[in-house]
Amino acid sequence: MRPIIYAANWKMHLPPEDARQFAVSFRDGVGTLPGRTLWFFPSAVSLEAVCQAFRNRPDIRVGAQDVHWEPRGAFTGATSIPLARGAGATGALVGHSERRHVFLETDAETGRKVRALVEAGLTAMLCVGELLGEREAGQTEAVCMRQLRAGLEGVSGAAWDQVLIAYEPVWAIGTGRNATPADAAEVHRAIRAELARLGAPRSVPVLYGGSVNLGNVAALLAERDIDGVLVGGASLDPAGWAQLVSVLPA
Ligand code: 13P
Repeated sequence: MRPIIYAANWKMHLPPEDARQFAVSFRDGVGTLPGRTLWFFPSAVSLEAVCQAFRNRPDIRVGAQDVHWEPRGAFTGATSIPLARGAGATGALVGHSERRHVFLETDAETGRKVRALVEAGLTAMLCVGELLGEREAGQTEAVCMRQLRAGLEGVSGAAWDQVLIAYEPVWAIGTGRNATPADAAEVHRAIRAELARLGAPRSVPVLYGGSVNLGNVAALLAERDIDGVLVGGASLDPAGWAQLVSVLPA
């Protein structure tokens, strides 16, 4: 059985002390859950506090929300991989839709970030997903496959063990309108087929994200091709998150 993955993307929330308190109360209240791996993606300034709190929990991974591909230099505002690693992170999100559509990050840039992460020995969680207009125009698969191919260019061999994919339809993020499990599963199957064409082993996890909550998580995880969830809003409250990660596939 592959572990189910529950990932929390805290976006621009939870400053260091709040993040630390969340992590400590979660760590002390929720023991290791068999068959599950948890990821937390705090903001860059809260990264170290969360890594510290979870340092003795091998079932819990902590990553940055974004990284630059250059290891150092004059990139005001950016977080390098060595900086994230120095704070304790073992991975990062790449190409989240807010990076792509708010900060106008390109497909090519996501590829550079994924390659830099795996070369540095960290894990990349590459996010892909279509805009509402693209879905309505029947371009969902074309968009996701393009993002996937560009983001994973140059990944091969053992590096696949350092890659996860998150399918996040942009129209479902923060809107309360999740993709139905069947709709999500259809895109997940296409992603899996593309991953196989790119030479990835079946073990590369593919997560779903977009308005995941306590009410829909079990049904989403019940789909064979959905290996986990990437959660924004419903990951911000410690009690709610503790409940959500305890839900198993329906
Ligand atoms: P919501 O769960 O708030 O829709 O956010 C999803 C997301 O963007 C996670 O990366």
